[in-house]
This record gives sequence, C-alpha cells and structure tokens, in this order.
Amino acid sequence: MRLKQALASAVERLDNSDVGSPRVNAEVLLMFVLGADRAYLYAHPERALTAEEETRYDEVLAQRATGVPSQYITGHQEFWGLDFVVSPAVLIPRPETEHLVEAVLDLARGLARPKLVDVGTGSGCVALALAHELKDAEVYAVDLSADALEVARANAARLQLESRVTFLQCNVLKPVNLNSPVILSEDFSPSRRTPIAFHNLDFVVSNPPYVGFSEADKVQRSVLKFEPRMAVFSGENGLDVIAPLIEQAHQALQTGGWLALEMGYSMRDAVVDLLGPTMWEDIRVVPDLQGIPRVVAARRA
Ligand SMILES: C[S@@+](CC[C@H](N)C(=O)[O-])C[C@H]1O[C@@H](n2cnc3c(N)ncnc32)[C@H](O)[C@@H]1O
Repeated sequence: MRLKQALASAVERLDNSDVGSPRVNAEVLLMFVLGADRAYLYAHPERALTAEEETRYDEVLAQRATGVPSQYITGHQEFWGLDFVVSPAVLIPRPETEHLVEAVLDLARGLARPKLVDVGTGSGCVALALAHELKDAEVYAVDLSADALEVARANAARLQLESRVTFLQCNVLKPVNLNSPVILSEDFSPSRRTPIAFHNLDFVVSNPPYVGFSEADKVQRSVLKFEPRMAVFSGENGLDVIAPLIEQAHQALQTGGWLALEMGYSMRDAVVDLLGPTMWEDIRVVPDLQGIPRVVAARRA
C-alpha cells in the first residue's frame, strides 16, 4: 500500500472510532512507524509501505482506536521545546503547564543560584525545563510514585541534566525513605517520623493532582482510562495534596521564597483561602491563554 492510501484509510478508521483530530493522529502514528517527520510524509505520497510497516501501522492504529493517547504509543511528548519520554506511569505534559514554568522564570529573574523543588514531578517536565533555563539553579524533583521518578530520571539523562537535578521519593515534601541521602533540613531528626526534606528553599513549584472525585464526570474519558489516577485526582474536592503542600512549603521556604502552583479552573478562591492572610504575601494569580486562572504564586511572609 502507498503512503497516501495508508494515511487516508487511517484517517477514516480513526474518525469512525471517534478519535478527535483523526488526520493529526494518523500522521503522528505514521511518522512514528516510519521514523520520519511530517515533511517526509508530504514529500513521498507514492512511497510503498513494506509489509512490516503496514503491520506495525495497523497495530498502533488499533491501539489509538481504543483511546490510548498517541503519546503513550509513541512514548514522547514535547514540553518547553524539549523532548520528553512518557509512559503510562506519568501524566502527559500539557501545554498549559508551561505557564507555571514562565511564572517561575519571571520570579527568578536576577536571583543567583536559586534553590528549588518541583513537587509531583511526573515526567520531570517542570523541573527539567527550569534546570534547562536556570543554569545555576539547584534543582530537586520529588514524586510519591517511584515509577514516575524512574521516567523523570530517564528524561534528565536524555536531556543531559542529570548532574543538575536530584530526585527523591516524597509524600508532598516528606521523604518516603528516611535513609535518603538528600535531607537538607537542619530540623531533620530520625526520631521525628515524617520530617520535611527541604529547608531554606527559594521556590516550591508544583503542578499537583487537583481534580476532585466529585468532578470525575467532567474529566475526559481518555484521561480517566489511561492516565495515572494519582496524577489526576486528589480527594473529594481536589485539595488533598494542595492543602498539605501549602503548609509544608511554608516550612521549606526561606522568608521571601515563592510557592508557585498550577490549579484547576475553578479553584482560585479555595487556594487563596488556604494561603490565608498572614503566612503569605504578594499573592498573584496568572491566567492561561483562555483567561482561566491557572497559576497561583505567593511569597512566604
Ligand atoms: C498533575 S501530575 C504533574 C506531573 C508533571 N509535573 C507535569 O506537570 O506534567 C501530579 C504528580 O504528582 C504526583 N503526586 C500525587 N500525589 C503526590 C503526593 N502526595 N506527593 C508527591 N507527589 C504526588 C503524581 O504521581 C504525579 O506525578
């Protein structure tokens, strides 16, 4: 079969299976199978697929037709202009999370050797984008999921940032493994059961899970079916990670240090309430391109 025909029948197949943007998906998957870019597809419409390529294309189209996101099939997603490997152990990085990176870069301007931690690092996209931009920053990346940390570490190695970022398994900011070598807090004492791992930070940055179980019916079907539950949901009202994060970030930051969080479209008031009137100052809310409040930043008073 020729490339042009393979593409046309793939578009029809995906469309019939109710896959959104069937043409883009058909092209992405054909590029993946051929190891080629989009320009190649357009330049060689008459190129015949080998039997092996046809079989492989059929397999990946069958997966996509059942709803598996194309990023979990190809194993890649771009974020901040960098290529990240992804697996079903991590959330697929979203373009709107780039607002969080932008907000932190704005706040970090002019700061020498900022020390920052990314909580709920997943694929590592936020921590690694920041390490890439802030060349002298000391960067830590934590997640409760050991499987996610493995993906994040692989991304650090691929992006040649592994010497710049330290990974640690934590429940919010408390280390899961108390023998971990990276305990920065001077308050750390093994006799206290769950100490905060960090101390005197300039930034706590996070895109935490923030969807409430009560809102599950508003979540896209493919997210519900294929992305990690612990990356998406956080208690009944979506605040089960954000609430301890605000509290623990206050202990981990130095005075004047910043907490920057991504949040859900309707969470602004709840998050500002949690920040409270005395512990934080200079509270800023940054909208996304649709004007939806997306990032909140606050300075530790
Ligand atoms: C919304 S995802 C964000 C992933 C990545 N930072 C991004 O922006 O694409 C949230 C991440 O938080 C992690 N997570 C969930 N609960 C956590 C907790 N209690 N402590 C630390 N990380 C947690 C999940 O495993 C997941 O990787």
